[in-house]
Amino acid sequence: MQLALFLLPGALLLPGALLLPGALPLAAAAETVLGAYIFHRHGDRTTKSYSPVIFTPLGAEQVFSSGSWYRSRYVAADSLSKINGIASDIALLSQLAVTSPIDNVLQSSAQVFLQGLYPPAGSVSAQKLANGTTVNSPLNGYQYIPVNAVTAAASSKNSEETGWLQGGSGCSNAVASSNNYFYSTEYFTTLSNTQTFYQSLLPVYNTTFPADKANFKNAYTIYDYVHVSQIHNDSSTIPSNDLLTPSTLSQLSGLASTHEWNLAYNITDPVRAIAGSVLAAQILQSLDSTLSAPITKRSAQKLTIQFGPYGTFMSFFGLSQAPAASDEFYGIVDYASSMTFELVTNATLSSDTATISPDDVSVRFLFVNGTASAANPPRAFPLFGQKESTLPWKTFTAEMNKFAIGTTEAWCHACGDVLGTCPSGSSVSAQSGDGGSSGGISRPVAGVIGALVTLAVILGLEGLILLVAGLRLVKKKTLSKEISNNEVAHTSKA
Ligand SMILES: *[C@@H]1O[C@H](CO)[C@@H](O)[C@H](O)[C@H]1NC(C)=O
Ligand SMILES: *[C@@H]1O[C@H](CO)[C@@H](O)[C@H](O)[C@H]1NC(C)=O
Ligand SMILES: *[C@@H]1O[C@H](CO)[C@@H](O)[C@H](O)[C@H]1NC(C)=O
Ligand SMILES: *[C@@H]1O[C@H](CO)[C@@H](O)[C@H](O)[C@H]1NC(C)=O
Ligand SMILES: *[C@@H]1O[C@H](CO)[C@@H](O)[C@H](O)[C@H]1NC(C)=O
Ligand SMILES: *[C@@H]1O[C@H](CO)[C@@H](O)[C@H](O)[C@H]1NC(C)=O
Repeated sequence: MQLALFLLPGALLLPGALLLPGALPLAAAAETVLGAYIFHRHGDRTTKSYSPVIFTPLGAEQVFSSGSWYRSRYVAADSLSKINGIASDIALLSQLAVTSPIDNVLQSSAQVFLQGLYPPAGSVSAQKLANGTTVNSPLNGYQYIPVNAVTAAASSKNSEETGWLQGGSGCSNAVASSNNYFYSTEYFTTLSNTQTFYQSLLPVYNTTFPADKANFKNAYTIYDYVHVSQIHNDSSTIPSNDLLTPSTLSQLSGLASTHEWNLAYNITDPVRAIAGSVLAAQILQSLDSTLSAPITKRSAQKLTIQFGPYGTFMSFFGLSQAPAASDEFYGIVDYASSMTFELVTNATLSSDTATISPDDVSVRFLFVNGTASAANPPRAFPLFGQKESTLPWKTFTAEMNKFAIGTTEAWCHACGDVLGTCPSGSSVSAQSGDGGSSGGISRPVAGVIGALVTLAVILGLEGLILLVAGLRLVKKKTLSKEISNNEVAHTSKA
């Protein structure tokens, strides 16, 4: 009764959340949250068509708001969903693991998110010295939470600086697989069906996309250019702005989503979704380490936050059958979107509970399109074609292990041995379509994931892939522009 009364105001405030198909209301019972994994997109940025791509004040505001919302859910002392044992005011660094690819927009997003998650602690952080003087740290107790560079291929390096995300994955078979999309019947059909549409909008973007680039081949970069202008440019300065009707804008966005979805995922060619496979392994490894730590061990890792590009969301959504819950998952997620995996239990925890049986633990999947806030909170969705959005740990790990890739061996097997870094005999050809399923982690989760797919491997492979694919290394300054104008030439097999 008490519970019903408590939930009611929230439900009244968010009627939309309860009506949307596929969405299930959040449970807020006597449940304990043991830990969580958040995968987050960056906030607003400038267009990819002009280098350097810059994180904007609006973007900072978005990720800061999102960080504040996650604080109110998982960190604040008065939250019903506070993560068990997590520090509320002064961050305990061992409880947190925050990563982002080496990319200015994503790194900055992660830093600002953390300012919302653990804001300046003010006088709480003041310290009294031996001589009696009290010292406050700078910026009113601003907290320094490290954002580590991602050391595996879940997210591309410099992803926001490049027009095409897979290019930085370091996985040659995945690059080849994505590239195959440009040889598919689906692609050629869409290319020809939309030719007139893209040409008709030339007056809007011919300064940036000449006639021979104004087509579905550049669906994402064209959409990105126009989308950014809708947020930042005074409409009177946009050439032929009258062509950009709501229906045109939604067509541009829909076509960009189709284009990117097909580069990120293909049901018969799982290696294309390598980013989602690696992420799945990272999620399992992180939640498993929380679950296996003694409940009372204060220093245990409890909250993992990874920033990454929309392409990784798409790869993961494809692999985990998110579109079975809602067709919306086929679309490019908005800036500052996040998905969360909550490790939860209804078991009673007392002060002498040492460990908790995996049988008593479940994982809940939550997603929010755009900035998380009280008005737009993350909602629970079922994955893996299931009915429930909260799955027993064993079911969750079994489903994730169907496509997780978390060891060097599995990664090399799926991606192909290009440089000789991978053990001999592990390579497979780009056309074999062999990938995800071979990478399953047998025991609940092998504890070695992540560290194994090292940056060295990725960086090493990348150099050769660029060569093999006939790409040129260009100065960062010119890279972005070139990719936008020349996207497919870069990836063509010829
Ligand atoms: C106490 O020590 C700090 C750090 O050495 C110094 O800055 C401060 O001036 C000292 N205060 C007094 C009253 O001596
Ligand atoms: C998915 O992969 C299969 C097999 O490689 C291919 O026939 C099909 O055209 C691909 N679909 C897309 C959209 O790339
Ligand atoms: C772009 O389109 C406008 C309007 O059709 C035209 O006046 C202009 O010459 C075009 N510019 C280029 C570079 O093609
Ligand atoms: C929007 O403004 C930027 C910066 O002034 C400019 O480079 C870009 O071409 C404009 N976009 C459109 C669609 O007019
Ligand atoms: C997020 O919103 C965009 C429109 O802004 C839409 O295209 C996309 O499908 C949405 N994705 C999800 C998962 O809701
Ligand atoms: C805990 O119990 C509540 C209320 O019955 C339920 O909604 C929730 O899904 C349960 N959580 C788990 C992890 O079983």
